[in-house]
Amino acid sequence: ESIYQLRGIRHLQDSLQKKLGIRNAYVVSGNLEEEEYVLNDMAKVASMQLQQTVEDDMVLGITGGSTMAAVAEVLAQVRKMEHVTVVPARGGFGREVEKQANTVVAQIARKLGARYMLLHASDTLSKEALQSVLNDPAIKKVVETIKTTRCLVFGIGRADEMARRREFTQDQIEMLTRQRAVAESFGFYFTREGTIVHEIETLGINFNDFLKMEHAIGVAGGARKAEAIFTIARLKPSMVLVTDEAAAMEIMKHF
Ligand code: G3H
Repeated sequence: ESIYQLRGIRHLQDSLQKKLGIRNAYVVSGNLEEEEYVLNDMAKVASMQLQQTVEDDMVLGITGGSTMAAVAEVLAQVRKMEHVTVVPARGGFGREVEKQANTVVAQIARKLGARYMLLHASDTLSKEALQSVLNDPAIKKVVETIKTTRCLVFGIGRADEMARRREFTQDQIEMLTRQRAVAESFGFYFTREGTIVHEIETLGINFNDFLKMEHAIGVAGGARKAEAIFTIARLKPSMVLVTDEAAAMEIMKHF
């Protein structure tokens, strides 16, 4: 149908990497919205990238979500990383415990034979409550460690979907639509131009930390996420993207 199918996935990968202007793009065949094995393949590639990137003594930051849960699931230990510390990038959220950052962190640490720290601060807390939570020495220590993250492996979501998942009010959802939010990552909502229009109040890395992050590996696939992926990737030229063919094709065609 297209030049990508003719020339194969390698060509699609190269074109995507160039189009987004990022360090590297990895594309697995298929559409994860249609076939289950695609998420698994994407997670495998991401877990290999993670293993190759993480060095001794590094702090590894992780976000939640179903994609990151899949990465944790397929991760296989190649070497023991006892001097690596795995942390959630930001405070947790949501009802489904298997998709929460803390859960993914613990599973990844167990697989790597690494240490981990969890952040027990709900993202429903007010600014003032968050400040007082920081008076707790244990939480303060976790937040300080998170701030030293050198490698971040993170999911990318659609703004509308993440707002629904976080049970935003109808007013909040309408405001996001009005402000044309299209992407969400680690609690920040962005327009296609990369402007932050909303931020979940929580502890952990902030947008500037993300921009300065030495290694960032974004993992997301499915045609429906194309615009969100496009948006996030263009914010961070040094990032590595792991995605699927459906999202990659959609980005090449429409953005
Ligand atoms: O921030 C975005 C989410 O982590 C993506 O979640 O992998 O379940 O789509 P998902």
